[in-house]
Amino acid sequence: MSEFVKVANTDDIPVGKIKGFEIGYNRFVIAHNDEGFFAVADECSHDSAPIRDGRLRGNEIMCTRHGARFDLKSGAVTAPPALVPIETLEVKVEGNDILVRLED
Ligand code: FES
Repeated sequence: MSEFVKVANTDDIPVGKIKGFEIGYNRFVIAHNDEGFFAVADECSHDSAPIRDGRLRGNEIMCTRHGARFDLKSGAVTAPPALVPIETLEVKVEGNDILVRLED
């Protein structure tokens, strides 16, 4: 089962920043760009590097280990060497709260 859980305040993650979280079995990052807040799994699909060490470029997040890029909204690969998408998580903002749909 999954439910929305408050994970941060909007002020915690300025535009252009990425922040990693571990809540229960859920390991993910929240990225903040001009379009809002997005959450993806904190594991690159290429060689398991932490995505929290990555860089945000517009609507893409880049894994710094080998340079793979992923679309923040869909998790799709936008640049190799990764071949497999990364998981995305649902995010919503209520007031100053960032909520993410997490598995129990
Ligand atoms: S581990 Fe991310 S690009 Fe290789």
